[in-house]
Amino acid sequence: MASPLRVGLAGLGTVGASVVKLLVANRDAVATRAGRPIHLARVASRTPKPDVDLGGATFNTDLASLGAADVDVVVELIGGDGAARTLVETALQAGKHVVTANKALLAACGDDLFAAAGRQGLSIGFEASVAGGIPIVNALRTGLASNRIDALAGIVNGTSNYILTAMEEDGCSFGEALARAQQLGYAEADPTFDVEGIDAAQKLAVLAALAFDTRIAFDGVATEGIANVDIEDIRHARELGFSIKHLAIARLREGGVEARVHPALVPESLLIAKVSGVMNAVMAHGDAVGPTLFIGPGAGGMPTASAVVADLVELARGTLATPKQASRQLASSGVGSVICPHYLKIPAIDKAGVFAEVADVLSRHKISIEAVIQRPPSSSATSVHIVILTNDIAEREIETTLAELGGLAGVCGPITRIRVADLDAMMPSA
Ligand SMILES: NC(=O)c1ccc[n+]([C@@H]2O[C@H](COP(=O)([O-])OP(=O)(O)OC[C@H]3O[C@@H](n4cnc5c(N)ncnc54)[C@H](OP(=O)(O)O)[C@@H]3O)[C@@H](O)[C@H]2O)c1
Repeated sequence: MASPLRVGLAGLGTVGASVVKLLVANRDAVATRAGRPIHLARVASRTPKPDVDLGGATFNTDLASLGAADVDVVVELIGGDGAARTLVETALQAGKHVVTANKALLAACGDDLFAAAGRQGLSIGFEASVAGGIPIVNALRTGLASNRIDALAGIVNGTSNYILTAMEEDGCSFGEALARAQQLGYAEADPTFDVEGIDAAQKLAVLAALAFDTRIAFDGVATEGIANVDIEDIRHARELGFSIKHLAIARLREGGVEARVHPALVPESLLIAKVSGVMNAVMAHGDAVGPTLFIGPGAGGMPTASAVVADLVELARGTLATPKQASRQLASSGVGSVICPHYLKIPAIDKAGVFAEVADVLSRHKISIEAVIQRPPSSSATSVHIVILTNDIAEREIETTLAELGGLAGVCGPITRIRVADLDAMMPSA
């Protein structure tokens, strides 16, 4: 058999320890598929983990030790964009390939790192950075390579999906579902990145850049999390035939890219509405293949390790692509060009005539009402919730309509607005 691929691994946390375990457990199968052994030569991490069997690899707390001559590839699994960036840049300068699971790093400076790797003829594998165990990066790079990809949509944050599922299936409040996610290790003690949509936006920036061959500034992704979705929204959506999911959507538009993450009502007839718990799903629409849907575990030690080791196998075979810098910079339109139906929950004083006022505002903005639910909210006896499902509305129109509705004397609290997923023919049905 050919000489081994020698690996230097940084980070012995959830993913790092799982990569070590997987390389030991499936050593022979991995070597057969790779055409040569994948040998863990060095491990570096802040804190030694005596309980992790390193299979004979040398351990060091100094990340610089991974620049040694007996390492061909540095696997970065420490996270963040500080020490991780230094590690990756140093590894590339030293002529090492890189494999990383770090979407924050790629969203912040992926294009620069790809350029540095390209100049050196080195590869950067990043399969694990998006949607954990789902091989979506490989699918976009290879399996769908003949297609012009014009749209991506998916559930790429397992924590948000777990919370929304617990609310829908078990009737938990948002707070209860979040606490449960934290107890089970699905959410961090500080869940901001997940529930405010930042993690999903970083992943979308990575995927969209790859799919559309463009640089996507992370701050060009319109970002909204799930913290304002409550149990009543989930129940109303269900009554109307929808599930609420946190979606990441990117589309090629005339001269630009529309990139956004936000909660959305998804018709129950679509397969993606049935993706529950911490599972992820990514839909890619290509001009030749049409809609494709990939579903699998989006996080967790072993699923993510599966993606990391897949990159190592490709590298060992010599088939891991040298990433190229994006050939263009398309303008990001955020949600500006979105036209879709909306779910509105309007808290209103419980007296005659208020609904007519609301209907009048909608009618003046040429918005039709497709469905209505009116009932008291669980916490107040003096007001009602008017829930309306609209027809297609352009983003600018809904903003001015909401401002006008909010000014009505009969409206007694903040209006909840959730877009209805405008996935049209992009998505396979159940
Ligand atoms: N967990 C998942 O399900 C998942 C899924 C997909 C992608 N990812 C990505 O995978 C990467 C690793 O995630 P993780 O969940 O494994 O994180 P983690 O459990 O926090 O592990 C990080 C590891 O890196 C070490 N480390 C951090 N900073 C260091 C530094 N400056 N120098 C040396 N060692 C350092 C930590 O040391 P200590 O042990 O001392 O803390 C720890 O062993 C992140 O980029 C994450 O976004 C994770």
